[in-house]
Amino acid sequence: MKRAVILPPATLALLGGGQLGRFFVQAAHELGYRVIVLDPDPDAPAGKIADGHIVADYDNQDALDQLTQQCAAATTEFENVPAAVLEQLALTMPVSPAADAVSIAQDRIREKAFLKDHGFSTAPFIAVANEADLDHASDDLFPAILKTARLGYDGKGQARVATIGEAKVAQRKFNIPCVLEKMMPLDLEVSVVLSRSAEGQCRCFPLAENSHRNGILDISIVPARTTLALQQQAEKMASALADKLDYVGVLTVEFFISDGQLLINEIAPRPHNSGHYTIDACITSQYEQQLRTLCGLPLGATQLHHHAVMVNLLGDLWFPVDFHNNIEPNWPLLNKIPNLKLHLYGKMSARRGRKMGHFTIIDHDIDSALKTALHARNIIGICDASESEIK
Ligand SMILES: Nc1ncnc2c1ncn2[C@@H]1O[C@H](COP(=O)(O)OP(=O)(O)O)[C@@H](O)[C@H]1O
Ligand SMILES: [Mg+2]
Repeated sequence: MKRAVILPPATLALLGGGQLGRFFVQAAHELGYRVIVLDPDPDAPAGKIADGHIVADYDNQDALDQLTQQCAAATTEFENVPAAVLEQLALTMPVSPAADAVSIAQDRIREKAFLKDHGFSTAPFIAVANEADLDHASDDLFPAILKTARLGYDGKGQARVATIGEAKVAQRKFNIPCVLEKMMPLDLEVSVVLSRSAEGQCRCFPLAENSHRNGILDISIVPARTTLALQQQAEKMASALADKLDYVGVLTVEFFISDGQLLINEIAPRPHNSGHYTIDACITSQYEQQLRTLCGLPLGATQLHHHAVMVNLLGDLWFPVDFHNNIEPNWPLLNKIPNLKLHLYGKMSARRGRKMGHFTIIDHDIDSALKTALHARNIIGICDASESEIK
């Protein structure tokens, strides 16, 4: 279906005001649009730079009425916005991503079932509505990982379990529906960010290779150091999945490569932390692409113009071991590196594990980009790479 073209200086609604939203606002401003953010947090990073910030819950009717009156289209940066809210806004304006796709991505049980029903490979799993469901878990699933069906992120809402007994203890603690998934041996984790237009045109960004620390993304290396065949296969799977979801907007597909096979881990109906590199290393960023699909503009080119290594900066950096109070990291050390692009999100308070910013090293050579990134990480005070899960 062709979508009406929305041109500047139209005002767009953004549900969610985190850093992904802040980058969306920047991309929208670049192209002459205005943005009103809806987020209950008065300090939301996107709200600080938007043209308006409605501080209210996502389902607040007054807030939704204001968006309906003032905005030409709506998007989201946060997958836990109630799907009913997206449905309501869609009665009067284009909304992408659509409520249906978001409601699948919000719930790991629905997400895994969708993947299985459409023939996409995943790690073996079972849905666990309650403790009794674990009685049917086969021994082959263990060691396993129990994940809450809803609201998990950055490794939260997950427990690693070796036996049915341990899974039961974890399930009792979570006390909400979960999925139990076999722990897979991982050769590599990779992700594809793609955009799909209302007319069904799909364009992928280059494959990112991701390493995590404590369940949180640490480093993304682009292009991923894997075979061309696997890169192409990942793009094909991600595009096929977007088609099956009849998806419009930016979609991220996280993969495991296990014994040389691609398995889909999870999907995110939005731009992604592992796609931050597109801001500095691609012709079009994932955020501009989100804007383009939302406003019915042609998709931008997604090629890398440089190789890139992205490093997340977590709140832990504000709490060096020998200090009792939090202190601002020594940014001038990073500013000295000429091919390092620093992005700080303007969050008011640092907490351990909280994403406060990132930097991207831009280079013509991936090995030299990685070397510089590890050096930069070291001097700013992030532990030595050997402590990370990077291989
Ligand atoms: N089945 C699994 N086998 C091996 N590692 C896993 C498995 N599931 C999750 N992990 C590890 O935990 C990380 C976070 O899990 P994920 O399901 O992506 O949740 P989140 O929503 O927190 O990103 C993954 O990126 C991966 O490193
Ligand atoms: Mg994940």
